[in-house]
Amino acid sequence: MAKRDTPLFVCQNCGATYPKWQGKCDACDQWNTIEEEKASHSGFSVLSSQKKGELIDFVPLTGTTEAYARLKTGINEIDRVTGGGLVPGSAILVGGDPGIGKSTLLLQICAGIAKLDLQNECFYISGEEAIDQVRIRAKRLGVADSPVKLASTTEVKDIIATLKKEHPTLVIIDSIQTMYLDSVESTPGSVTQVRACAYELIKLAKQQGFVLFLVGHVTKQGAIAGPRILEHMVDTVLYFEGERGHHFRILRAVKNRYGATDEIGVFEMQDKGLIEVENPSALFLAERQGNVSGSCVFAGIEGSRPLLVEIQALVSQSGYSAPKRAVVGWDLGRLSMILAVLEARCGYNFSGQDVYLNVAGGLKITEPAADLAVAMAVISSLSNKPLPSDMVIFGEIGLSGEIRAVSQPSLRLKEASKLGFTSAIVPPSIKKENQKEDISLFEIGNVRRLMNWFN
Ligand code: TYD
Ligand code: MG
Repeated sequence: MAKRDTPLFVCQNCGATYPKWQGKCDACDQWNTIEEEKASHSGFSVLSSQKKGELIDFVPLTGTTEAYARLKTGINEIDRVTGGGLVPGSAILVGGDPGIGKSTLLLQICAGIAKLDLQNECFYISGEEAIDQVRIRAKRLGVADSPVKLASTTEVKDIIATLKKEHPTLVIIDSIQTMYLDSVESTPGSVTQVRACAYELIKLAKQQGFVLFLVGHVTKQGAIAGPRILEHMVDTVLYFEGERGHHFRILRAVKNRYGATDEIGVFEMQDKGLIEVENPSALFLAERQGNVSGSCVFAGIEGSRPLLVEIQALVSQSGYSAPKRAVVGWDLGRLSMILAVLEARCGYNFSGQDVYLNVAGGLKITEPAADLAVAMAVISSLSNKPLPSDMVIFGEIGLSGEIRAVSQPSLRLKEASKLGFTSAIVPPSIKKENQKEDISLFEIGNVRRLMNWFN
């Protein structure tokens, strides 16, 4: 164990500890994030001099626990992503690229909750925009008459002193990177500042039992700027994603102490703010053109909801010595694996071909269940033969070319049937349970059988 006076060096980004200072953190590859901390702060050697520890009462796992009270936002997509509504006393971090619509979304939530019940006290504190800018946005969103308490400041001490005198239901801090505590000697947005400000605000939220939203900017790599530790400090982390050129946005829960993760909410950015999308599959398939080679529809699941998306592939003669592989919305490593399986098990040859893969609409898919759809799109493009436009596909591909079962096939098929699809390529042995859907099922056990579709 470290001696009490031994200095300890801690990475301010990821929390890794070092006995000596170094320029780069080996754990998270960040430069100049390692700072000296007093040993007593780091969790070591504090026991010796402090007061005696008190005994803890242990309890059994069973017992009466009340379900969390939930504050409904009135926006179904938000309620679902947060696991049924906001939990009082919880802190929620909302991350996303600049300009994606975080401030718009949070102003809509804030105004909505304030209006739902006049007992609710909702505070919107902007450190980025002046009062007038927020007012103009509220007018544009048609929520200017909502009793939101608005302020523009970056001083966390002032915010805390004020909130202690009020009874907030909801507090929105836009953004945590602009906030400043004068007792911390570093500039706003620095790791130490962000962490200290978030700590104080979260502590207050727990004490007073209000819902705290923190807006956080995202770095180029996609992580919320500032310390990773911020993600550990909050109860829920939501990412607001979308392509600038597209009008729809996805709110994704990546961490949630009060609900399931991987749940998504889909919104459309319109002139008057963000509108909920009730039928996302229809939206993602809206611009699909039938009868084109290299395109197929994947029946996926996002969280608890089925979602149909178009997968597009383009295989073309390569002009480079090392052929290109590029993906949008899917994992590059996974594409390489599928190409290797198709080469090894079906005898296709991609060595002189560039392969591009795109999940249409800008959605990011992480499910391996999309493997089969990716493989079909690639072969369809390579052989220049379109697939039937009323067909959906799902199934995971193993290295020996076998098609593996995926979760919730009936939910996927139900959604496909609802949207008018009449056939599906699926993994083996799901036929029996799902025969009732009015959709013809083609079970495929091995990728070798895919070739039959293109002869
Ligand atoms: P904003 O909420 O300011 O983004 P963030 O806080 O994530 O940086 O959203 C800015 C973009 O949204 C801007 O490009 C304009 C667009 N927008 C609309 O299309 N409709 C609207 O009603 C509003 C308020 C913004
Ligand atoms: Mg903003």
